[in-house]
Amino acid sequence: MTTLMGTDAPFAVSVRGVNMVFDGVHAVRDATFDLEKGRFLTILGPSGSGKTTLLRMIAGFGKPTSGEVFINGLAVGSVPPHRRSIGMVFQKLALFPHMTAAENVAFPLRMRRFDARTIPDRVQRYLDLVKLGKLGDRRIHELSGGQQQRVAIARALVFEPDLLLLDEPLAALDRKLREEMQLEFRRIQRELDVTTINVTHDQREALVVSDEIIVMDHGRIQQKARPEATYRQPSNAFVANFIGVTNFIDGMVTAVDGDTIAFDRPGLAGRPGNGFRPLVGMAARGALRAEQIRIAGGREALGDVDTVFEGAVTDAIFEGERVVYEVTVPDLDGAALRVFDHDPVAHSQHEVGAAVAVGWNARDVLVFGD
Ligand SMILES: Nc1ncnc2c1ncn2[C@@H]1O[C@H](COP(=O)(O)OP(=O)(O)O)[C@@H](O)[C@H]1O
Ligand SMILES: [Mg+2]
Repeated sequence: MTTLMGTDAPFAVSVRGVNMVFDGVHAVRDATFDLEKGRFLTILGPSGSGKTTLLRMIAGFGKPTSGEVFINGLAVGSVPPHRRSIGMVFQKLALFPHMTAAENVAFPLRMRRFDARTIPDRVQRYLDLVKLGKLGDRRIHELSGGQQQRVAIARALVFEPDLLLLDEPLAALDRKLREEMQLEFRRIQRELDVTTINVTHDQREALVVSDEIIVMDHGRIQQKARPEATYRQPSNAFVANFIGVTNFIDGMVTAVDGDTIAFDRPGLAGRPGNGFRPLVGMAARGALRAEQIRIAGGREALGDVDTVFEGAVTDAIFEGERVVYEVTVPDLDGAALRVFDHDPVAHSQHEVGAAVAVGWNARDVLVFGD
């Protein structure tokens, strides 16, 4: 077994140059990252981006084509999944339907030959943890979907694994239950301080539950950052587009003045996105969040903003706490900008067809080269 050198306290998980190629499909490309103990990491990306493949290699199902996975500083290439001290919950819960909740939670303890006298107390503690303390005698089919989720969580954690791996366990739940369970995962993870890697395609879930987010696309890690940094400083146009509702304005760089990049559009400017070094004449894309755009019946009503365009409302959706507009702007080649108005009660709602002005500040436009 090799060890990962160079750190005193080893990371809970280190992934080094990991690739997975399935006949012709390069599912994971050169993945490298470290995860500190006790952190909640979410791997976020669209379907097919390689999330499950990466998680399975950490779990020990599927050997990397190249590269190495370290758990607690030790290379685990030749350690089978059941020897890796990992609890797992997948979308298919794979509970034993003919057993009670308590018997399901006891199962991993019996498999691992825990002292039989200690099992009932420990099972009760983990049923309490997931708020099923009184339902241990229920059979699985006598429990609701949310309660079954809780049994699966207790079963994954009862043997106190070093690592908890979650592969879209909430994907099939309805929205209300999913949001409730997201907060439950977060609470339980904090209570136990167990290092957790969660896979999802749900950006909101990633922002809500995680200490850190890895964004993947086409098998490649695009960014690893804390949720707020992922949102506010996306590393490229893909991340900016995948998280949040983002408008892209394509153009050419006409001037660079310190951190201000001017575009070949009247009054349009922005600041460089992560690592982008603009040069005059380069093609560039400005990324602008829907919530950074103000909308009003006329220019004067917008207040003090750097950039103003006139347009027409081509769609307006009332969502309760906000109105989502689409505003078509002739001076931006007819671009349809998505705009959130979070104060639709104070602001009168603009009807489809209405002439409006939209405005924003240059610091809210992040400019990327791709
Ligand atoms: N066992 C396999 N054999 C062949 N191709 C696979 C296998 N598992 C995954 N893939 C392919 O690898 C890519 C990534 O898949 P996956 O990791 O499941 O993505 P995600 O979990 O992000 O949806 C996809 O193109 C998928 O079809
Ligand atoms: Mg998957």
